[in-house]
Amino acid sequence: MIPEDKTTTAPAARKFFIKTYGCQMNVYDSARMSDSLSQSGYQPTENVEEADLVLLNTCHIREKADEKLYSDLGRLRRLQAERGSGRPVKIGVTGCVAQAEGEEILRRAPAVDLVVGPQTYHRLPQILRQVAEGAKIVATDYAAEDKFDHLPLPPAAAARARGVSAFLTVQEGCDKFCTFCVVPYTRGAEMSRPAEQILREARQLVAGGVKELTLLGQNVNGWHGRGETGAEWDFGRLLFYLAKELPELRRLRYTTSHPRDMTDSLLAAHRDLPLLMPYLHLPVQSGSDRILKAMNRRHKADDYRRLVDSVRRARPDIALSGDFIVGFPGEDEQDFAATMQLVADIGYAAAYSFKYSPRAGTPGAVLPGQVAENVKTARLEQLQERLGAQQTAFLHSKIGADTDILLEKPGRHSGQMIGRSPWLVPVAVQTRAAAGTMIKAAVTAAGRNSLIARESGRSA
Ligand code: SAH
Ligand code: SF4
Ligand code: F3S
Repeated sequence: MIPEDKTTTAPAARKFFIKTYGCQMNVYDSARMSDSLSQSGYQPTENVEEADLVLLNTCHIREKADEKLYSDLGRLRRLQAERGSGRPVKIGVTGCVAQAEGEEILRRAPAVDLVVGPQTYHRLPQILRQVAEGAKIVATDYAAEDKFDHLPLPPAAAARARGVSAFLTVQEGCDKFCTFCVVPYTRGAEMSRPAEQILREARQLVAGGVKELTLLGQNVNGWHGRGETGAEWDFGRLLFYLAKELPELRRLRYTTSHPRDMTDSLLAAHRDLPLLMPYLHLPVQSGSDRILKAMNRRHKADDYRRLVDSVRRARPDIALSGDFIVGFPGEDEQDFAATMQLVADIGYAAAYSFKYSPRAGTPGAVLPGQVAENVKTARLEQLQERLGAQQTAFLHSKIGADTDILLEKPGRHSGQMIGRSPWLVPVAVQTRAAAGTMIKAAVTAAGRNSLIARESGRSA
């Protein structure tokens, strides 16, 4: 998932500012918290200096991700001191560091007023009332009630503010316990939202003008929830259902998938649903069976190769992306060579790759054979060079192709718009059409991470 900083904001005279770190699920959560705060009388601001409430929605996935929190808290403490008691500013930490560190955050950063984990966001209005009276609150318990039943649906204005493309969490938490990963501890056990609850939220977003929905989950393709009839459905079935029930929706995407949960019905959705875009983020982490086993990924490198073959049979133009970790404990030159070979065999359109970061409380952190930092750095460079070359090759392979582009926003040059190709790659195009329009275009050139195209018509 792509780390992204996004600001949203906070009350009538009271204003809120949210800074979002981490993955798309945090971006989604920040939007839901903004909806909730707006209904509690707060107004958003883009300017932290004028906020009465600042929330840092944090990520715990790698070491660098949570270092940022404490440096931001240092700056906020100074803001709080300058403002004094005349116009106090309340500081909150939400997200995955809040869940993982809880009380510890108050000990390290006494300026903080509230620490709220991802399963407790629906209690924010009540927590803020207590904080206004001077209480310090840590709320990291797993609530018995379903937070999605209690968070307000995005009101019309909020749905419009989501723009052309919006996220929608359908599955949260993880029971897979890969030995490097904190997510099972920060997001809790796997849960799937019922199909009708998802549809209600999707309808609200589509009514506000959203044309593209990206369904989110830590293991989104492991979604197995209550269907319309009360029976349990799988993820492929959910995709067919949403496609049928949302005639105004133009595009459907999902992320992130686990290779173990790529079911036949999901492959059928890729084959039969034009609404479902030809892009799949399918992390593999390593190409070495020994390391995959130590990571508890529960599949072999060849299982992944076969899976990619089936996906490509179902949807030959699919763009594949992946996540990789180098320097997991015990990884030797041969294991790393196996990862490089897997990459060569698959051919990725895009990828995210990281140095292994030992996380306290996960089994990987205490394994023998931790890899030296300079070795991790060298391997990461080598891997990124190969992945970068594949990305360039992918982009160049699209020159001359006809494609649909869903326009999202004005570009830097006059008359230019930025949209997305079906393969998720951003495309720049000269057009008079507005954001939200789907146009037809021919790709004329490729940049480092984007394409350039010439408009050839409007899509129906
Ligand atoms: N649920 C997704 C991954 C979520 S975390 C999946 O199973 O694929 C996003 C990515 O961060 C992971 O795919 C992994 O590549 C990376 N990551 C997670 N923990 C990490 C760690 N301790 N060190 C380095 N990278 C890590
Ligand atoms: Fe983490 Fe593994 Fe779960 Fe993905 S499947 S969230 S990597 S434990
Ligand atoms: Fe980070 Fe939590 Fe997402 S740890 S990657 S914000 S699920």
